[in-house]
Amino acid sequence: MTGYKITTLNEFIIRRQANIPYAKGELSNLLHHIGIAAKVVNKKVNKAGLVDVLGEAGAINVQGETQQKLDVFADMQFTAALRNSSECCGIASEENQEIITFDDELSLDGKYIVCMDPLDGSSNIDVNVSIGTIFSVYRRISPRGEKAQLGDFLQKGNEQIAAGYIIYGSSTMLVYTTGLGVNGFTLDTGIGEFCLSHPNIKTPENGGIYSLNEGNYNKFPDGVKKYIKYCQEKDSETNRPYSARYIGSLVADFHRNLMKGGIFIYPETESAPNGKLRLLYECNPMAFLAEQAGGKATDGDTRIMDLQPETLHQRVPLYTGSKQMVENVEGFLANPNE
Ligand code: AHG
Ligand code: MN
Ligand code: MN
Repeated sequence: MTGYKITTLNEFIIRRQANIPYAKGELSNLLHHIGIAAKVVNKKVNKAGLVDVLGEAGAINVQGETQQKLDVFADMQFTAALRNSSECCGIASEENQEIITFDDELSLDGKYIVCMDPLDGSSNIDVNVSIGTIFSVYRRISPRGEKAQLGDFLQKGNEQIAAGYIIYGSSTMLVYTTGLGVNGFTLDTGIGEFCLSHPNIKTPENGGIYSLNEGNYNKFPDGVKKYIKYCQEKDSETNRPYSARYIGSLVADFHRNLMKGGIFIYPETESAPNGKLRLLYECNPMAFLAEQAGGKATDGDTRIMDLQPETLHQRVPLYTGSKQMVENVEGFLANPNE
């Protein structure tokens, strides 16, 4: 009888590390700890309807949004996991105004910093719809042994060492990249392990799904309005009309488009000239994953990972997904009157 052949996340991480000369296992250890926190948060998410973790925690986060209890829980778990890894000297979280530095002796010597959106799609918690966690890892610029500095966090996305997300969906998956392609792991709750289920993910060059909050149509730039009309037109050669799909959790919308081919758009609007999504916690990690899967991510003009962050909670417009679709919408943005 042949046994159930599985590759666990930890096994995979260690195997990858063995291919990198001089790697000491620090990043592997950091990713391992992120995997542990993901399992803890997953358990809580699954029980959200049973125990008193639903609803708002009352506090307003730095974006002026009401924090849900699960946001607070996820933030605490991932912060603790990163602190315990001893590989990380500090974090920036969507839920905190300032960076958090880890000042114990081991962490001060940590080589990495992490930016995270501990719970993405929080408006979907109460209604049993997919939510996620997004993370992004950089090598620190400040000297090891000293406190992490703001400058360590304001690096271009291009400098990312690793990025990924966890989607708490119909099954829970962890998808990540270290710049050698994108790999997806599904949580087998029976054995409590993330198992390699989607090796070397490549997104289709072109797709048939467009995802954006069309309720904001009147506030969209003309190029986006034109592109929406293009998506809705009938054309058998390009398989239009496309399907509209919008969950309202970036992780879930991005994941579906990554697997099936599609475009996700959160544009600038009159009232929000930089869009809604945050460069450090949402756009850069998704851009790294998109590019590693053969897709694209821009702000409508410039590659997301080439943008120089000015502030921690900076927002930027996001156009990401299948390469041809992103290039197509960029054409509409450049020439909205054609
Ligand atoms: P968060 O829950 O971390 O604040 O993120 C919510 C984000 C993102 O997940 C989603 O794509 C977007 O907000 C939805 O915004 P709209 O409700 O404006 O469409
Ligand atoms: Mn988010
Ligand atoms: Mn969030």
